[in-house]
Amino acid sequence: MLTIESASLEDAPTMLDIQRRAFAKEGRRVGSLEDGQQIPPLAESLESIIEHIQTQTALVARDDERIVGAVRGIVTDQACVIRALVVDIGYQGRGVGSSLLQALERKLAQVSRFDLTTNMLMENNVTFYERHGYRLAEVTHHSQKRIPLAQMTKRVAPAISGA
Ligand SMILES: CC(C)(COP(=O)(O)OP(=O)(O)OC[C@H]1O[C@@H](n2cnc3c(N)ncnc32)[C@H](O)[C@@H]1OP(=O)(O)O)[C@@H](O)C(=O)NCCC(=O)NCCS
Repeated sequence: MLTIESASLEDAPTMLDIQRRAFAKEGRRVGSLEDGQQIPPLAESLESIIEHIQTQTALVARDDERIVGAVRGIVTDQACVIRALVVDIGYQGRGVGSSLLQALERKLAQVSRFDLTTNMLMENNVTFYERHGYRLAEVTHHSQKRIPLAQMTKRVAPAISGA
């Protein structure tokens, strides 16, 4: 049975492993960036995930005990930036990513906007978020225009606390 709960510190290494597996295909497609680095989700450190578990909203999806996906929400003022929505290979296409996204939005009901960046070289990404109410706000090009990145936004009516 799939459950979604807040990530604990001990989940961080598994979250990083899943993130690396989930973004491996995108990493191969993109290759090295201009600065010689890998794409941000592959270059991210364990410490960065630990910091988000401690200070932000981090959720994991479990199939019984096994962690099969994760997402993080970084809140500044009234806006949340969605980071690293990932589902483990073999669990993709079964609704886990959608459940994580919806759970994050429910958990952060106080914000008025959700923002994210996604790579348009991966054909399904933009339509996945559009199906969840996100709109394409801007397309930017990186690494000598090789990489089109979609900036996507969803505006929501913030829940009034105490209501
Ligand atoms: C994108 C991602 C989070 C979606 O999670 P998911 O659990 O596979 O998605 P769901 O089962 O909830 O929804 C399936 C839909 O997602 C889309 N999708 C995007 N990438 C997909 C993938 N690799 N495999 C299957 N579906 C994918 C499809 O359009 C699919 O629609 P369909 O059912 O009409 O075919 C997941 O596939 C993943 O981890 N991908 C690699 C990392 C990534 O790109 N993260 C998001 C970009 S910021």
